[in-house]
Parts: sequence; C-alpha cells; structure tokens
Amino acid sequence: MKLDLKNKIVIITGGSGGIGEATSIAFAKEKAIVIINYNSSEKKAQEVLSKVKVYSDKSIVFKCDVSKEKQVKIMMKQIYAKFGRIDVLINNAGIAKDSNILEKKVTDWNKTLNTNLLGVFICSKEASQYMLKQKSGNIINISSTSAIYSFSPDIADYDASKAGVITLTKNFAKAISPNVRVNCIAPGWVNTDINKGLPEEFLRHETKNIYAERFAEPIEIANLCLFLASPKSSYINGTVITADGGHD
Ligand SMILES: NC(=O)c1ccc[n+]([C@@H]2O[C@H](COP(=O)([O-])OP(=O)(O)OC[C@H]3O[C@@H](n4cnc5c(N)ncnc54)[C@H](OP(=O)(O)O)[C@@H]3O)[C@@H](O)[C@H]2O)c1
Repeated sequence: MKLDLKNKIVIITGGSGGIGEATSIAFAKEKAIVIINYNSSEKKAQEVLSKVKVYSDKSIVFKCDVSKEKQVKIMMKQIYAKFGRIDVLINNAGIAKDSNILEKKVTDWNKTLNTNLLGVFICSKEASQYMLKQKSGNIINISSTSAIYSFSPDIADYDASKAGVITLTKNFAKAISPNVRVNCIAPGWVNTDINKGLPEEFLRHETKNIYAERFAEPIEIANLCLFLASPKSSYINGTVITADGGHD
C-alpha cells in the first residue's frame, strides 16, 4: 500500500521513547522528514536520529517540554520557518508514575496532567495555526486503553490525562476540520520503558487478560500512525482506535 508520506513534515513528540522511536523510523522509511522531539533524553534522541537519518537525511531532533507553552510556540515556529510546512503532528510524549491514589501528591498529579494532557492541547493548538493556514494537516494523539478501563488506581492521574486526550481529540477534530483531520490511538500494553519497574506478577496477570497473549511491540502502534497520517485513512476523523490485542 502506497502511503504518500514522502517529504511530509512530521513532528513526533516524545520521539526519543519506545513508541516514538519506532514511529520516527517508520515515517523515515516512508521518506517523511521527521522532527524527533524530546525533553531530557538528548543521548537517546540523537541515537534515534542516527537510525532515522539512514532513510531521511533532513530529519532533526528538537528539545522542547511539551507542557511549556513558550517552548512549544518556539518549536512550531522554527519548524515552520525551516521546512515551510507542518503536515503531521503526533502527540506521543507521555509519562506515568505509580503511587497510591490516596497518597498521590498534587505535584505528581499536576506533572502527569501537564505533560500528557496540557501538552497535547498546547502542541495541537500551536500546530493547528500552521495547518489551517496551509489548509491541510493531520494530528494523531496517543491516548491509552487505561482511559477506557482502569488497570490500577495507582495511575489515576495517568488515566484521567488519557481520558482527557480522547475528548480533546473529538473537540479539535470538530474545530479544525475539514482540511485537518484529528484522530487518537489508544494502545493497550506496549513493550517500552514506560512500564519498566512494574512488578513481574502484575505484568503476568495483565498479559493473561490480553487475547493476543502478549504486549504490543512499538512498531505495531507506529504502523497505525502511518495509516492515520496517510490519505489511505481519509474518511477517519475525530475518532479513537484501540490497539490492545483484544481485552475484556
Ligand atoms: N508503553 C505502553 O504500554 C503504553 C500504552 C498506552 C499508551 N502509551 C503512551 O504512548 C506514549 C509513548 O510512550 P512510551 O511507551 O513510548 O514511553 P517512553 O518510552 O517512556 O517514552 C516517553 C517519551 O515521552 C517523552 N517526554 C516525556 N515528558 C516529556 C515532555 N514534557 N516533553 C517532551 N517529551 C516528553 C520522553 O522524552 P524525554 O525522556 O526526553 O523526556 C520520551 O521520549 C505515551 O503517551 C504513553 O502514555 C504507552
């Protein structure tokens, strides 16, 4: 299937992480120009860039905290100035920190909500201006099935942020259609660092609930991003697609 992503300017927030890396490489293989955003993992972002450059030598990394409006404005402005377009924004940056819901600190709650939800709002708002100006664009938000069913009260802040991402998707789609499409992917469990440190027994229990009997690999989420960014999904808009291997 030809995806028509050649030379598209694609911003991937959290491009230095597990899903972000796979997505950056997948778009680069389609000859898109990838902007690999990161916040603190400079070394990891540079490693991803070196893999991406094999397929797409104009790709770059961009350090920016997605929860900081000033930084996001600068990022979008500089990318638009450099490349003359912003075709695809993938709001993928996210964090999760487990702590008992009854003891969860407001500072931790705010950090999760600011990164996972406010960050999606700010990046979408800023990228939209350029997409509306050029009368085309595509925004893909990464939520989670934890927005739909709770895995653990220890990540109530994460669940709330990801539920917010789903409503934000619908609202942005309504506001900026028809020339810009906005969709959301809700992955189930994916093999990445965000889950490192979770108890083995908990992970085994979760795996048992998945019809596919395994976690997803990051490329399986990246492939869905490719489809949603491509004209092949032209009538899919304002919706959420789950990718969880089947789950009760
Ligand atoms: N893995 C799963 O099971 C799973 C399931 C459902 C949904 N998701 C979602 O998928 C997305 C990617 O997760 P992942 O599993 O690939 O996690 P990951 O490997 O931990 O990667 C997270 C990425 O987010 C970036 N990031 C964090 N805070 C940021 C900020 N303030 N500004 C910019 N970038 C920031 C990190 O970069 P720095 O290190 O440089 O900050 C990193 O690149 C997240 O939104 C996550 O919630 C994951």
